Amino acid sequence: MRHYLEFRFPEDFLIGTANSAFQSEGAADRDGKSESNMDYYARQVAGKPRGKTSFYTKDLPDRGCFFYDHYEEYIADMQKTGQNTYRLSISWCRVIPDGVGAVNPKGIAFYNKVIDKLLSCNMIPLVDLYHWDMPQCLQEKGGFANPDFPGWFENYAKVCFAAFGDRVKMWSTFNESAVAVTYGYIRGTFPPFEKNEKRGLQAIHNCLLAHFKAVKLYKSMNLGGKIGAVNPFAPATPARICREDIEACARSMEYIFDFWTEPMVKGHYPKMLLETCPEIAAAMPEGYAKDIAENFVRMDFLGINYYFSRRGQYDPDAFLGCKASVEVYFAEPGQSYPPYPAGLFDLVQYVSDRYDNIDIYITENGFASKNIGDMEKECDDGDRILYIREHLRILARLIKAGYKNLKGYYYWNDADSYEELDGYNLRFGLTYVDHETGQRRWKKSRYYYAEVCKNRMVN
Ligand code: NOJ
Repeated sequence: MRHYLEFRFPEDFLIGTANSAFQSEGAADRDGKSESNMDYYARQVAGKPRGKTSFYTKDLPDRGCFFYDHYEEYIADMQKTGQNTYRLSISWCRVIPDGVGAVNPKGIAFYNKVIDKLLSCNMIPLVDLYHWDMPQCLQEKGGFANPDFPGWFENYAKVCFAAFGDRVKMWSTFNESAVAVTYGYIRGTFPPFEKNEKRGLQAIHNCLLAHFKAVKLYKSMNLGGKIGAVNPFAPATPARICREDIEACARSMEYIFDFWTEPMVKGHYPKMLLETCPEIAAAMPEGYAKDIAENFVRMDFLGINYYFSRRGQYDPDAFLGCKASVEVYFAEPGQSYPPYPAGLFDLVQYVSDRYDNIDIYITENGFASKNIGDMEKECDDGDRILYIREHLRILARLIKAGYKNLKGYYYWNDADSYEELDGYNLRFGLTYVDHETGQRRWKKSRYYYAEVCKNRMVN
């Protein structure tokens, strides 16, 4: 008998874990891999007091979770967990060390082995072309802000589609371009730490053109798979019940989420934002609307990374008139990434309504705990179990309520890895990793996740 409060997932629902090359592989200098912008900045700031950058860490991304050397054991664990998918990224610096030009056969060979192993363990790989690592040699030429960026990226995408496209059937162009580009070039909180509105908007535009080029190329190659992009979304709800706060929240969401998603899905930048925010409209690249419209190719699905929600209040002195703070209903004081499961409900509704029920994958969602250097305690992670359960329940409820476009969920992340700003200070993983010795151990949350995956159901 089926109890009506069962929280089940459909048979074709993808459920698994995620990680990125930069954060998991380690082996940052090995087998021909070149330095990425993130390697470069980490090396600049490692061990130095926090200065003009927002890096908190003294750690280097040279270990990650040692995935480069131990991918077989990690994938075997994923199979034991019962997951049917894994989201990973390819490191541009490993595949084309000079950014453009010669392909590194050792880089291709590594990803071939990983992809083949995943397939032999009955897992669908979802592969990001870009998740943090811009080759530093291209960063020195301006990175996203260089008008040649779309061509560089298209060339790299072509190499990847040609090498792996026979087996990889789910691709994403960029992970969190809003963070890498908007926060890297306009807000100045991520590498390359620039704060230049006009140049930053050009960098965003270039990144969107690069996305279109890759999508168009992929479709022209008829490889029979799907291609999308992964955007972060922290929904904002009004601090007070008033029109000013509602509108301030709308602007804030359009700036970080729709500024990327709307061009990618509908072929234009958000109209409301451009009409009501002269500070943005005046700094947009020349001919932007025509450029986007002419290059637009609709992607097949949208990946969304969800960690927390925000509360927004109208403030005429704040950027876009919105003073936003992170929603902290259920968090411990000072907790990074304060969990707010209901925000996932808001997000799926917002996106489905606004983007004609496009297929949605929750490509990241994860619980950050502080590295306290105690394996026993780290592995006894009841709070992470609760986190997973509450977020998955929301998804199951949404599916039950008719959101058939909700197609998958990836817990972030598979194993404790390198966190871009926090080094090894934060642990998100289902598998505990000792970053000195490489020792690994399943946390309680991984045993729990295995029950969920195997039963395709959450309690
Ligand atoms: C989103 C990023 O894509 C990922 O790389 C990062 O580790 C998580 N956020 C947690 O900060």
